[in-house]
Amino acid sequence: MIRVCFVCLGNICRSPTAEGIFRGLAEEASLTDEFVIDSAGTSGWHVNEGPDARATEVAAERGYELGGGSRKFVAADFARFDYVLAMDAENLADLRRLSRTGEERAKISLLRDHEAGAQGEDVPDPYYGGDDGFEEVLDICERACQGLLSVIREEHGLA
Ligand code: 4NP
Repeated sequence: MIRVCFVCLGNICRSPTAEGIFRGLAEEASLTDEFVIDSAGTSGWHVNEGPDARATEVAAERGYELGGGSRKFVAADFARFDYVLAMDAENLADLRRLSRTGEERAKISLLRDHEAGAQGEDVPDPYYGGDDGFEEVLDICERACQGLLSVIREEHGLA
């Protein structure tokens, strides 16, 4: 199994969106059986809460189902996942601080590093903004997750 975890601050907006999109793309490609797909937050501020209703609504309009309760990313998660995707530079720094070995560190990347032309860019935090922000997050995560899936397919010989 290829184990993928998307990580943001609250685990109620961006990372559940990326998780739902990646799952949808894997389904489309008939690759569901190859993956364990999850998400988590660096903060733990919204533990056990479901995804933000605004994120759920815009995702549903494009056929993605978001689910799961929020949980905090812990150091032990590095052993449970092969790819740990940070939504922004702050998440990336927090994850790097939490990692204890080079092997763990090597699992971490910025999600948008997998989106053509967006290397080093953040998925912007939509929490305090309007609905437009949630649409933007969806657009970005679709592009970046497509790129990520391509990279993983190549690395694992999933033609
Ligand atoms: P997320 O969005 O990190 O994409 O889930 C946020 C959710 C909650 C907060 C900030 C960002 N908050 O400040 O509670």
